Amino acid sequence: MSLYRRLGGEAGIAALVDELSVRVKADEVMGPYFRDVDEAALNRHRSMFLAAFLGGPQSYTGKTLTQAHGPFRLGDREFDAFLRVMRETLDASTVSFLDRRRILRSLNRLRRDVVSRSVSVGPGAPGFGGPDDLH
Ligand code: HEM
Repeated sequence: MSLYRRLGGEAGIAALVDELSVRVKADEVMGPYFRDVDEAALNRHRSMFLAAFLGGPQSYTGKTLTQAHGPFRLGDREFDAFLRVMRETLDASTVSFLDRRRILRSLNRLRRDVVSRSVSVGPGAPGFGGPDDLH
């Protein structure tokens, strides 16, 4: 059975993404980026992306990761926060230990598509006043 099927297919992935989204919003590094984002649309795109990425039959039709994240000029700090929140989400789920590790490793390979700066200028960096500072 494929990883996608073991995760419960489309419905299983949508449930993970909903849980992820609650944790992302509450996270002190990531949360501020999502203040003005249409959450329902974002979660549809995240689910579609993850389903395709994890071997499902869907094809992803949203922006590329580089297009979606480039404007935020994210650093490794933000990417690591994403992996941490994803790990917490998976740890709270019924996904097996091996599959959790597989998913986190695969996501880590997307780092270069998401991160556009080596030095973080995002929330948490000294002097950062919120996402508005990035524009
Ligand atoms: C492997 C890591 C990540 C994946 C797979 C991912 C995936 C996605 C996807 C699929 C979208 C939707 C694109 C679209 O609407 O067409 C998105 C949007 C977004 N992501 Fe990520 N993301 C990741 C990491 C991050 C990180 C680290 C941050 C910030 C701390 C972040 C912040 C955002 C924001 C703010 C949006 C909304 C953009 C908008 O609506 O204009 N993402 N992400």
